Amino acid sequence: MRIKTLTLKNFRNYKEESFSFSAGLNVLYGRNAQGKTNCAEAVYYLCTGTSPRAKKDRQMIRSGEESAHIAALAESRFGEVCIEADIYETRRELRINGERVARNADLLGNLRGVFFSPDELRLVQGGPEERRRFMNVSLSQLSKSYYTALVRYNKVLGQRNALLKERDVSVILETLPVWDAQLCAFAAEIMRRRAEYVEKLAPLAAEKHAFLTDGAETLAVGFESAVPGDAAEALARELAANYDKDIRLGYTTAGPHRDDLKIHINGTDARAYASQGQARTAALAFKLAEIEIFQEIAGEPPVLVLDDVMSELDLARRRKLLAQVNPLQTILTCTHTEKVLFKREVNKFRIVGGTVRR
Ligand SMILES: Nc1ncnc2c1ncn2[C@@H]1O[C@H](COP(=O)(O)OP(=O)(O)OP(=O)(O)O)[C@@H](O)[C@H]1O
Ligand SMILES: [Mg+2]
Repeated sequence: MRIKTLTLKNFRNYKEESFSFSAGLNVLYGRNAQGKTNCAEAVYYLCTGTSPRAKKDRQMIRSGEESAHIAALAESRFGEVCIEADIYETRRELRINGERVARNADLLGNLRGVFFSPDELRLVQGGPEERRRFMNVSLSQLSKSYYTALVRYNKVLGQRNALLKERDVSVILETLPVWDAQLCAFAAEIMRRRAEYVEKLAPLAAEKHAFLTDGAETLAVGFESAVPGDAAEALARELAANYDKDIRLGYTTAGPHRDDLKIHINGTDARAYASQGQARTAALAFKLAEIEIFQEIAGEPPVLVLDDVMSELDLARRRKLLAQVNPLQTILTCTHTEKVLFKREVNKFRIVGGTVRR
């Protein structure tokens, strides 16, 4: 899969710009605050329907304008596809090959990307929400039913949590079973897919990690869920057992919103004890494994977006990373000084104040 052209109109600091990407390595370079990450964000948005950093879509509209437009002409094994998003103050419109699609689920899967930025380096040392986000971004692009279950789960969870804050305990006890039945069905789908995903991820991540460390360290990854065994029934039991606790705390204490990934380096819990360098290497191993999973499930390689990660890696890791991503279409951002790392035949874009200088 690859993006042939990406067009940005009134998006962030871009007025109107278009990128023609090659099938190989595309390097966006420039000084700080010129629009490199903005371009990476636009690709992320077309892959996932969300921004990795903006809380509200309207933040992406260029200041003083009424709407932003992002469009990609991409090529997958099924042929060409045009993906467009128009972002307005309070709503947005998505189009696939010119046809409006109402739901975000219909956007997913048309363009698939694996994203690596300094934020993802928090994968190992950050909180469990970082690791759930990793699974969600990956799985949502690979499975519509996962994404749909996740959206519905979060909605019901919100309703359940609102109910738990209700004053009248008898009302709570009467209504909880209604929410719980729905919650468990969606949770089962989420947890089953996550467990499957991690089962695929674990050996691949271990292999990539061995490659990155020349076999000096071992990485072990596992799915960690508070709800063991058959997800729907186990969660139903767990929810029922926690009624008193949940009512006292005013929120739901068990469920996939508490899932995590176990990460061990050389047998030690990396979440608590990894050094910065170890955490970076493990995060990179996760990303390289993620690429393989996309390849396997989607039947073709994803687009790879590497935003500002070169500066975070030492020379040996950079080389290894670039060797691994060689056959993929890669959009890589870096600063002015790092561009010297790349040979002349690489497709280079110099970004200055939201424009490409040719
Ligand atoms: N909605 C918006 N309208 C106009 N400009 C915006 C908007 N949102 C962000 N910007 C501008 O975009 C610039 C930041 O762009 P970006 O994050 O892509 O920088 P970068 O080139 O990745 O820099 P760095 O090397 O520091 O990561 C800032 O100057 C910011 O003010
Ligand atoms: Mg940036």
